[in-house]
Amino acid sequence: MARLIVVSNRVPVPKTRAAQAGGLAVALKDVLTPGSTWFGWSGRIAEDAAETPALVASRGVTYATLDLTRRDYEQFYVGYANGALWPLFHFRPALMKFRREDYAGYLAVNEKLARALAKLVEPGDVIWVHDYHLIPLARYLRAAGIANRLGFFLHIPFAPASFVATLPVAREMLNDLTHYDVAGFQTEGFARDFRDGAARWLDAAVDGEHVRHAGRTTRVIAAPIGIDAAPFERDAIRAARSAEAERLLSSLHGRALAIGVDRLDYSKGLPNRFEGYARLLARHPEHLQKISFLQIAARSREDVVAYRELARELDRQAGDVNGRFSEFDWTPLRYLTRAAPRNVISGFFRIARIGVVTPLHDGMNLVAKEFVAAQDPRDPGVLILSRFAGAAEELTEALVINPYDPDEIADAMHQALVMGADERRARHGALRAKVFAGTAAAFARRYLAALEGGTGTTAASLSPPLRHLAASLRRNSA
Ligand code: G6P
Repeated sequence: MARLIVVSNRVPVPKTRAAQAGGLAVALKDVLTPGSTWFGWSGRIAEDAAETPALVASRGVTYATLDLTRRDYEQFYVGYANGALWPLFHFRPALMKFRREDYAGYLAVNEKLARALAKLVEPGDVIWVHDYHLIPLARYLRAAGIANRLGFFLHIPFAPASFVATLPVAREMLNDLTHYDVAGFQTEGFARDFRDGAARWLDAAVDGEHVRHAGRTTRVIAAPIGIDAAPFERDAIRAARSAEAERLLSSLHGRALAIGVDRLDYSKGLPNRFEGYARLLARHPEHLQKISFLQIAARSREDVVAYRELARELDRQAGDVNGRFSEFDWTPLRYLTRAAPRNVISGFFRIARIGVVTPLHDGMNLVAKEFVAAQDPRDPGVLILSRFAGAAEELTEALVINPYDPDEIADAMHQALVMGADERRARHGALRAKVFAGTAAAFARRYLAALEGGTGTTAASLSPPLRHLAASLRRNSA
């Protein structure tokens, strides 16, 4: 029987560290019904990297992974994906480090993955490729004779046409995306940016949602990703009574908790966030000793220079904030660069009075949605959200701020601290309804319906594998 094949750079192979990998694994949990395959990098570097994937079967799902060589890793992952594409798509051209040899390595890894994947594909399989590491995969799969439906989803922002042009291989990148039947983006704005870029730099014809180029047609859609809200809320209720949450609570001595949870990444706006907090304490001395800010910033991509520099800057800033404002019995900022398990963090969210989500640029930001889902509706905390996170398009009842202005962050923190319970409940009620409606399952259903070529999600319009998926999604979201 035909199956769904998910392709992503990281593969959450069960019983490995990657199995806990965040948003994507959660979002796709429901569509990975028995018979599906998840294919990608193993996360391992091996000099004798084989061309044939290692297979692990778990609950009827096959996880197929390939190792990378050290050179693959340096050029594909560190060099081009995270050294060039990531800064480009996050509006940081000054951090873009394009090198032709890295780009060649990126293409070579995509070609290697496509060759290996092509051997696993059967007629009728539906292939769903995720994120910026794998943009050229469809072109190589087509070259290997794969005629199946091929979809792509970009989890991070896309850049406006004028910006995309700074990438020396912009045309190739845009052209590669036109090899997919469906290209999905987090927001309509990012989808529009891709259509504009294709029109401007490829001379592609744009017809509504469709981009036509070189005899191919790509449907370009916005499909905002969500979370598995109800289980996350249940988890938060349980985790708020965990030993960790009890320890955190007792350490607060009744102070309000503000919390931020991010990868240690320059797109997350952490220096401005720390400065905003310092300005809150300086301008509103009434909050001194009444608030504790817990920032968890898990170290990430430390082989990329810009990330190491950011880590040093944040060490300096954290020392500065605490040096300036601490009392012998109060530390205003608790700064951790270790990752914490999601099932601990959900409890911390529930305890918190303020969730601080202030990226400079972000495809969606699921932390914002998790913070909302984790709140106690009777006494909810307040979400402070950057207007440049994809989530801000939906979560308009948050305190939406411009993260480039630390004073605006400070003002929002003050507003959150003095906000009455009625206003907190009203804002949270509206946010909660959205987070519980726009779930991971709804996202996957919408995307797969588009990939199947239908316009709706009625079972009759779906092929057998997708009918199966749709049925399982309905069960899971019920
Ligand atoms: C973002 C990207 C993902 C990536 C994740 C973690 O969310 O959209 O594709 O997997 O960051 O980054 P890493 O480099 O550790 O995979």
